[in-house]
Amino acid sequence: MIAEELVKQFGDFTAVDHLSFEIQRGEIFGFLGPNGSGKSTTIRMLCGLLLPTEGSGRVGGVDIVAEPERVRRQIGYMSQEFSLYRDLSVQENLEFYGGAYGVVGRLFAERSSSLLERLDLAAERDRLAGTLSTGLQQRLALACALLHQPPILFLDEPTSGVDPVSRRGFFDLLGELARSGVSILITTHVMDEAEYCNRLVLIHRGRRMALGTPGELKAQVPGRLMQVRAEPSMPALDLLAQRPEVLDVSLFGTALHVAVADAVSEPAELIRSVLAPAGIEVGEIRAVRPTLEHAFLSLVGEEPE
Ligand SMILES: Nc1ncnc2c1ncn2[C@@H]1O[C@H](COP(=O)(O)OP(=O)(O)O)[C@@H](O)[C@H]1O
Ligand SMILES: [Mg+2]
Repeated sequence: MIAEELVKQFGDFTAVDHLSFEIQRGEIFGFLGPNGSGKSTTIRMLCGLLLPTEGSGRVGGVDIVAEPERVRRQIGYMSQEFSLYRDLSVQENLEFYGGAYGVVGRLFAERSSSLLERLDLAAERDRLAGTLSTGLQQRLALACALLHQPPILFLDEPTSGVDPVSRRGFFDLLGELARSGVSILITTHVMDEAEYCNRLVLIHRGRRMALGTPGELKAQVPGRLMQVRAEPSMPALDLLAQRPEVLDVSLFGTALHVAVADAVSEPAELIRSVLAPAGIEVGEIRAVRPTLEHAFLSLVGEEPE
């Protein structure tokens, strides 16, 4: 799948701004960006649901502008909106989506049973979808999107509102699908979730800020990151921010995260020498590894959420 210089404008507003990327077969590719950054709009263009203003894309070799309906037939799509029928049972929801994709009769019986087994939903077959927990609803929505065995799967914030344990299980499932050759594009604004992706794009205001593996993106964070306990923390933050050797400083829970230029040989000593004379009480200072949140922050200059 490839997106080339995709643009979507709504009136004067540019929601997606010349976005390009390529996704390999069997890859879990993440789209990480704050709300309103253009993730859903991009997915809808790639699913053949929305025409780009400019640019092009091919999904499974099919052109998204010339043949959007052919694109739709060969993909699975889990939209950000609730897509199940609450007052239909698990089984009836599957039948509905099976019908929509032309998966009926014996084929439907086989596939739906195997998906229910695989997604641990077999015991819930007769329950109404509206009575399931969010985690189970999400697995049912995935089952519905997989009935026609699409080689490409689009998941738009599939785990929002789901607890971390169920999220973990969901990503284990995605890993299995990817290993069987399915390409997966998943959007999220949750940092720890992005860690499960093989590669990801960081997007902000419709623009691509960076693309790479989680490791590559974290390696781009400049300087050395130090976690500092200091009281009171706000004046400490202000003092450190004024120093040229300090590349970035932010509040992280009750501690400060301070990125110090690589040229400084003793970052902890530098930090103490800035804070102690101002009467600030300095506790533990230790080096920490950058996270994707730091990568986002250093590229964009603001928090992802
Ligand atoms: N149909 C539309 N008409 C006008 N503006 C839209 C429309 N769809 C999305 N937008 C705007 O485009 C921006 C990106 O939206 P979206 O792609 O949903 O972002 P995300 O999924 O990253 O939260 C937002 O500012 C949103 O308000
Ligand atoms: Mg969205």
